[in-house]
Amino acid sequence: MISIKSEREIALMKEAGHINYLTHEELKKHLKVGVRLDALDKIAHDFILSHDAYPSCLGYEGYPKSICISLNDEVVHGIPDARKLRNGDIVSIDFTVRYKGYESDAARTYIIGKVSKEIEDLVLNTRLALNAGLSKVKSGAKIGDVSHAIEVFAHEHGLSVVEDLVGHGIGSEMHEEPDVPNYGPEHTGITLKKGMTLAIEPMLTLGDKEVCLTDKDDWVIVTEDGSPSAHFEHTILVTEDGYELLTGE
Ligand code: MF3
Ligand code: CO
Ligand code: CO
Repeated sequence: MISIKSEREIALMKEAGHINYLTHEELKKHLKVGVRLDALDKIAHDFILSHDAYPSCLGYEGYPKSICISLNDEVVHGIPDARKLRNGDIVSIDFTVRYKGYESDAARTYIIGKVSKEIEDLVLNTRLALNAGLSKVKSGAKIGDVSHAIEVFAHEHGLSVVEDLVGHGIGSEMHEEPDVPNYGPEHTGITLKKGMTLAIEPMLTLGDKEVCLTDKDDWVIVTEDGSPSAHFEHTILVTEDGYELLTGE
């Protein structure tokens, strides 16, 4: 069942989304060479709690930290630990914020110091691929329209789309129906309706699309070929003519 949110639910999701946005902005200030990943986790954890919200990744299916931090070839679900940011890293930060029973989910990828032009373009174009998908959102459009726009944009820019991980509906649960794949044919899938809330999240790579778990833990997903990967995600509300960003400015 795909839920249509009530006015009350939408208001709470906006609050959850705004705290998510503020937390990303706070973390951004601390992204420097030498900062430990677990220090960033603590900053986010404390910041979210201080806004009367909960970092709902913590404890989700046993996930041990408050945010996910994925470096370079890590695609998603990197666990913050004692590692430090280094010059030339790309770092994807993804987390959910729960406020009064409602979730928000957003991810950004940042460049630390100097990287190659190729990697700079990977990060830029993953952000723009999300925008390409968002531009298709409105009441009456199909999920496949969004998926297809992301895929076309990625391929036009020489990037691969990770297919094993998808966006999702979101609300009182972090992951709700429907799936929002980042690839596939247009004019297919469910019809978007005003009042649906979705997390749209392309994960693109410079190499092949295949990803896998490592033997490091049960969480972090890396590219099989070791190529760098970027990830951008927003939680949005479908409206009559388009969408409202719930995790944006
Ligand atoms: N934020 C992720 C998503 O985009 C989910 C993270 S689950 C966690 O769907 F347990 F790793 F936190
Ligand atoms: Co996320
Ligand atoms: Co998500």
